[in-house]
Parts: sequence; C-alpha cells; structure tokens
Amino acid sequence: MFAGNVLADDAPALKDHASIWEDAPFLQGSTRFEPQSEINNIMITGGAGFIASWVVRHLTKTYHGHYNIISFDKLDYCATLNNTAQLDKEPNFTFYKGDITRHEDVMDCLRKHDIDTVMHFAAQTHVDLSFGNSNDFTNTNVVGTHVLLECVKSHGVQKFIHVSTDEVYGEVKDDGKDLLEDALLLPTNPYAASKAAAEMYVEAYRKSFQIPAIVVRSNNVYGPHQFPEKVIPKFSMLLQRNQQLSLHGDGTHTRRYLYAGDAADAFDTILHKGRVGHIYNVGSSDEISNFTLCSMLLGEFGISNETKDEVYKHVVHCEDRPFNDHRYAVDGSKLKQLGWQQKTPFKEGLRITVDWYRKYGGTWWGDISDRLTPFPTNGKREFDEVNASPDVKRRKENEHMDSVPGAVKVG
Ligand SMILES: NC(=O)c1ccc[n+]([C@@H]2O[C@H](COP(=O)([O-])OP(=O)(O)OC[C@H]3O[C@@H](n4cnc5c(N)ncnc54)[C@H](O)[C@@H]3O)[C@@H](O)[C@H]2O)c1
Repeated sequence: MFAGNVLADDAPALKDHASIWEDAPFLQGSTRFEPQSEINNIMITGGAGFIASWVVRHLTKTYHGHYNIISFDKLDYCATLNNTAQLDKEPNFTFYKGDITRHEDVMDCLRKHDIDTVMHFAAQTHVDLSFGNSNDFTNTNVVGTHVLLECVKSHGVQKFIHVSTDEVYGEVKDDGKDLLEDALLLPTNPYAASKAAAEMYVEAYRKSFQIPAIVVRSNNVYGPHQFPEKVIPKFSMLLQRNQQLSLHGDGTHTRRYLYAGDAADAFDTILHKGRVGHIYNVGSSDEISNFTLCSMLLGEFGISNETKDEVYKHVVHCEDRPFNDHRYAVDGSKLKQLGWQQKTPFKEGLRITVDWYRKYGGTWWGDISDRLTPFPTNGKREFDEVNASPDVKRRKENEHMDSVPGAVKVG
C-alpha cells in the first residue's frame, strides 16, 4: 500500500495519513506579477514532485481567478499527492495522472485542458541512481522531453518553459569563474548528460518548429517536500533516527543551495518576464561543502559540532560516486535583471527544512527507511539488481495508483 498517497477507494485506511497534509503549513513562493491575458491553462509536468509542487502551489494560490493549473505526473517512486493535497478543493487546480513518454497521455491532457503554457519539470533526478540505471534517465529525460515537444508542436502553446540544471555545465574548478548561460555544456554523469541532451531537443524544436521555449538552469534546490533520497532531507531523517550521516568522499565537495520558495519565485519571474529563446541560470550565493552541511545539520539537532572530531563522530564515509563534480558555479545575474532575488539565507532555509522533516518526513511518503541506506550505486551494479531496488518496487506499486477525488483520471 502506498501510505504516502491519497487513494479515493482506500481513504479510511489512510485516515491518519490524510491528516498529515491538513496539519502541514502551506508553502509557496512570495512573488506576484500582473496576470497575462495569453496565459490561461498551465500544464506543469512533475507536479507531484519536489520543485514543481512548490510552483504548482504557488501559481494556483497566487493566480487564483486567472490561471488554471494542471499538475501532470506519473507518480513515480519519489512523488506523492500529499505535495499538492492542500489544493484539491481549489477550482483552478487539477491533477492529471499521465506519463510524459506516452504520446496519448500528453495529447489528451493538452487537448482536454486547452493548455496554452507548459512548464516541464518531470524527470528522473537522482544522480546516484543514474550511474546504475541510466536507461531510465534517457527514457524519461530525453525521450519524454521529445514526446512532449512533438505534442506541443501539433497542439501549439504560448510558452514552453523547460527545466534543466546547472549540472549540464559540468564541474567548475575551485578557482573557476561563475558560468554564464552561453558556457559550453560538458556534463560528467548520466543524469546531467540526459538533461543536456533534452536541452538539445528543446533548442532544435525552437529553431525548426518555433516552439516558444525558455530554458532554466538552476543550482541545487532544497526545502520541505523533497523526497528523502537527496542529501538534506536524507541527512535530516538520519539524524532524527540517531543514525550516522553517509558522506560521499572527503566532504570537500560543494554545492550552491537555493531554498525552494526562492526557486518558486524564480519560475514565477521567468513565466511572466522571461523572454522566449533565452536561457536563465538560477544562482544561489550559498556555496556549502558537504562537511559544513553535516556540521550545520548537527547544529540544527542540538548535537555538538564545534570541532572536526565532533562532526566526524556522526559521519560514516562511503564510497564516492564514479565521478563526483567538485563544485558547480553559475552566474545568475541575467535572471536578477528581471527582478528576481534570493531571499532566504541558507541558515534560515535549513532551519525551516529540518523543522518540517522532523514533523512530517517520516510519514509524508510512507515508509522511507529503504531510502536512508548509504548510497551510491557504484556503477557496477547489474541491471537485475537495479530492477529489484526499492525505487523500482515503489514505482511498480505507484502504477496502480489513481488520481485524487475530483481529479481527472486517465483511461
Ligand atoms: N532538485 C534540484 O536540486 C534540481 C536542481 C536543478 C534542476 N532540477 C530539475 O528540476 C526538475 C524537478 O526536480 P525535482 O528535484 O523537483 O524532482 P523530483 O524527483 O522531486 O520530481 C520529479 C517528478 O517527475 C515525475 N516524473 C518522473 N517521470 C515522469 C514521467 N515519465 N511522466 C510524468 N511524470 C514523471 C515524478 O513522479 C516526480 O513527481 C527536474 O527536471 C530536475 O532536473 C532539480
């Protein structure tokens, strides 16, 4: 049973679960722009996942009476309808269960909801998994984007916002300059390669078929609602369970972290002010090493973290990824010129995030214990082993899931 999701015909069994999202704070961004007359019906792919659900909640509430939001998601292992359950009674919100790699699902959604704007977030997103099962990444991220573009080409839209990542640029040396949007794409892992390949399709369709595309490349996003396979929620859940933090490598790798509310603002800004044919980096000023992250998280849990030894008492070193970019560094000034700003300092965002996971992380997605084991897949895992992984099992169970009451159901 998927306790993390709301099933129409299983509601009594999920009563406890159903109340989780009722008690949770409603989290969204803070920007609001003049609604645009050419935007009416926005399809947001991956809407039951992390970042897209922030955008779904933000746009549904902020543009109530102006925009209809259609969250399109296949409910993969990392998704939960809890992420948008607070919107179920909103007249301008609909959930559509569909798969971006299925032409018939995408066409049906585009037509049924008279979609004029697409924001495409759906993807396989976990870098660690991409070393073990990269075919899934090619299928969802490349083929899925291609299917979406084909459908959009025949249906026609006003705007197609394609969500990419800073990882497409590859590693930036410690003394390297922040990269502008015209830097070369040099991905180093299968996830990043699939995202770069998807961008190539977007650009080709923009040129050949005048798809009104905008590409967005963001730094790491963190915050409540992120599936606990990613480092901040995973480490928070480990500390809550008095378990050690499984650190990749020597802890010196850094990432720039952006709070999800600020990311929602960035997408709102790009939706309203971004120019078709342009690429926008979304950059954070908070560059944090994995060691510092461990130390700060210990601090959030009231555990001594003054010295290296104190921190390392709670850390277990695990084998690093086959290749692990030491850092990413994008220059986000182009988006700032549109008025976007990073508002949430890392320390504050981390506090909000840890607090949320302490309250909801253990139940929001059902049982997540299988996600808290040390990773990575070292790239040597056999295909059969990957297919027996907890993610694949979760995914298979989710295939039987249907939409929430009142939501559109697919055939
Ligand atoms: N999380 C980050 O730090 C980050 C940073 C930069 C860019 N991005 C990009 O932002 C987007 C969202 O990332 P996230 O971390 O929120 O992802 P996530 O893994 O939390 O969510 C992905 C969503 O896509 C859905 N999905 C997967 N395959 C699908 C398919 N075939 N059809 C329909 N839905 C499908 C999943 O069910 C899930 O709800 C991705 O494109 C990712 O590459 C993420």
